[in-house]
Amino acid sequence: MTEVKRITIPYLYELKKKGEPISWLTTYDYPMAVLVEQAGIEMILVGDSASMVVYGNSSTLPITMDTLIGHCQAVRRGAPNAFVIGDMPFLSYQVSVEEAVRNAGRFMKEGNCDAIKLEGGTRIAETVRAIVNAGIPVVGHIGLTPQSSSMLGGFKVQGKDVETAVSLIEDAKALEKAGVFGILLECVPTKISSLIRKSNSTIIFGIGAGDDVDGQLLIIHDVLGLYQCFTPKFVKQYTNLASIIGEAVGKYRSEVKGHQFPLPEHSFTISPAELKKVEEYLAQKK
Ligand code: KIV
Repeated sequence: MTEVKRITIPYLYELKKKGEPISWLTTYDYPMAVLVEQAGIEMILVGDSASMVVYGNSSTLPITMDTLIGHCQAVRRGAPNAFVIGDMPFLSYQVSVEEAVRNAGRFMKEGNCDAIKLEGGTRIAETVRAIVNAGIPVVGHIGLTPQSSSMLGGFKVQGKDVETAVSLIEDAKALEKAGVFGILLECVPTKISSLIRKSNSTIIFGIGAGDDVDGQLLIIHDVLGLYQCFTPKFVKQYTNLASIIGEAVGKYRSEVKGHQFPLPEHSFTISPAELKKVEEYLAQKK
């Protein structure tokens, strides 16, 4: 068997240098992490999107540090070699720099993560610098930042005019200066992603940011067709697990109702002699 190497930041930079796109998916639990690592995906995001796709909330805001750390631990058990990133939830880094460093540290110490991700550019640069100074690798996330979607006026493509495009480029610069090793662009026009990539030395990842980036991220529930509430334009659904699961569960139900499950091969036996003893014991008790 070929030995799988633990994915590191220098290795990710090597891929960038070679021009080999980096594959990145969200994952939230052990069985999926096993499959994702087996498929050779280099990076896993334990995203606050779990709030929506796992817990059924209408936004990412309700999920807590404790909940996400539990998911990180499960993912790390399933994916010991992938580069696992913990996603800092709403209000875990906005209140104070000190609280941000402590919470980022929890992802490393308790969640066994390799890095953290947080949303924002220039306005959180000081926080990013403090986390990096604590020895914690950071990916910055700009463009459509779901934790502040209310401020952005909804889930909208960012950087479609000169003002917002320039501010994205400046945000990316501020994050680079603050010491991030990577920047995730969400819902950004391809040409603006290209300009950011050309003007920035960090690894540029995209989700809905076109093909001129160093790596691609998608939410695994979208890729597998498991989240039926909403599918963004940038998603490619590679299979439809919702219908596969629906069919299997429906078949199970109808076999239970029709006495076709369980069959003898799914059941356990007792020797006739032991069964006779049980029956005699019961008869004696009457
Ligand atoms: O939580 C998440 O999955 C994310 C992606 C949408 C970028 O932050």
